[in-house]
Amino acid sequence: MKKYSRIEILRIGALLFGLAMVCMRPGTVAAAFEEPLKNSCIACHKDLPDERLSRPVKLWSGSVHAEVGNTCDGCHGGDPNDPTLKAMSEGNRFYRRPKEEEVTGFCGKCHQELSEYFKQSAHWATGTQNCIQCHGTHAIQRISLEIINPEKCSACHDYESPDKLKMVLSTLHNRFGVSQEKIKSIQGLPIQPLADKLGNVWNQLRQVRMVSHTFDMTRVKKKAEEVQALMTTVESEIARLEGIEQERKLLGWGLIALFSALAIATWRYNRTEKDSE
Ligand code: HEC
Ligand code: HEC
Ligand code: HEC
Ligand code: HEC
Ligand code: HEC
Repeated sequence: MKKYSRIEILRIGALLFGLAMVCMRPGTVAAAFEEPLKNSCIACHKDLPDERLSRPVKLWSGSVHAEVGNTCDGCHGGDPNDPTLKAMSEGNRFYRRPKEEEVTGFCGKCHQELSEYFKQSAHWATGTQNCIQCHGTHAIQRISLEIINPEKCSACHDYESPDKLKMVLSTLHNRFGVSQEKIKSIQGLPIQPLADKLGNVWNQLRQVRMVSHTFDMTRVKKKAEEVQALMTTVESEIARLEGIEQERKLLGWGLIALFSALAIATWRYNRTEKDSE
């Protein structure tokens, strides 16, 4: 049998220790084993033979709600500490499947402000679109503007208004992204006040997303214009800082050029002195 040197044993030991640390980090392997057992809804449902009952667990586990810890009971109620069927009793404020018209209130337990805006929309008034038709149910993802597309949004009306809505939102998102990158790349200057201002722009941009749920273009545009104005202020402040940064760079290069010229002149002078000796 091969004999291991002390160094090799130490190396293997360190490797195993490293692996153990990775496994023990919360949110990695350990969590993957423990999490489903802690919540009785997930523990029981994941192994139920009826697809209709077990599939939500699979779908949910890749969703934004799984990521932020909104488990089954967050939406459906019930008692996630009770491992029996009683977890789903009326006394535990358990909601089975919400009816079509109940979905807004169901999601609105948490997304309250947004649901209030949505209740002012034509979609709500006509009972045509609700939260889950646009966002899905168990596999809900972080939002992207791809939700608005001709396939999904031109079944009942033309695509003109949806397209306008998408334009307004994506212009805001893009402008925000550009400012965010620029602020990150400014060096050697105090950027905190500017970053705070951009944080405020972000909060207001979130408000546009709320108002966008009225699907009322006049209201959306009005709110978007307020945010555009805020962005313009931030952008001119960025331009000012970039100007200072540029001036400093030029000054730096100027000094380097000056010192280099001086060094060369001195060296030449010394050489001519030597030559004439
Ligand atoms: C011991 C196993 C078990 C536990 C624990 C459990 N369930 Fe269930 N669940 C079932 C079974 C079996 C059904 C189908 C029979 C029924 O509808 O009562 C079901 C049905 C459901 C339904 C669908 C009802 C419908 O409309 O068809 C929902 C939603 C649900 N459970 C959510 C939950 C939530 C949320 C929890 C945790 C608070 C939970 N379950 C805990 C076994 C369980
Ligand atoms: C974001 C809120 C939300 C979460 C979290 C959630 N559900 Fe649901 N669930 C719903 C809604 C809304 C419906 C009704 C869907 C419909 O009508 O199409 C539903 C329906 C169901 C049904 C009935 C499915 C059917 O086709 O009849 C079951 C079973 C179920 N959920 C179980 C679960 C389990 C188990 C979990 C946890 C892994 C969970 N749900 C997490 C919102 C949620
Ligand atoms: C007609 C489609 C549609 C309907 C109906 C809809 N949404 Fe949205 N939702 C969107 C789009 C598109 C965005 C992305 C907006 C953006 O990026 O600015 C969004 C964004 C969101 C966001 C992210 C907002 C934020 O910044 O925090 C949440 C949460 C959300 N929707 C929940 C809901 C809920 C809850 C309902 C029902 C009350 C609902 N949505 C109804 C299309 C819809
Ligand atoms: C128990 C509270 C709760 C309920 C009920 C709930 N959510 Fe959420 N939802 C959250 C939390 C918390 C987040 C994460 C917010 C964040 O990180 O910005 C979230 C995120 C989302 C997002 C992604 C937002 C983004 O910024 O990208 C969407 C879309 C969403 N939820 C839709 C729904 C829909 C549709 C329903 C109803 C079927 C629902 N939610 C029910 C708590 C809830
Ligand atoms: C199931 C039918 C249906 C679907 C699908 C649908 N809508 Fe609508 N939408 C309506 C109805 C009904 C109205 C109100 C009457 C009208 O303007 O045609 C409306 C109105 C609107 C309005 C207001 C129009 C205006 O000029 O004020 C916007 C914006 C809108 N929808 C966006 C969307 C978006 C974005 C999608 C896709 C995510 C979508 N709709 C998908 C039924 C639908």
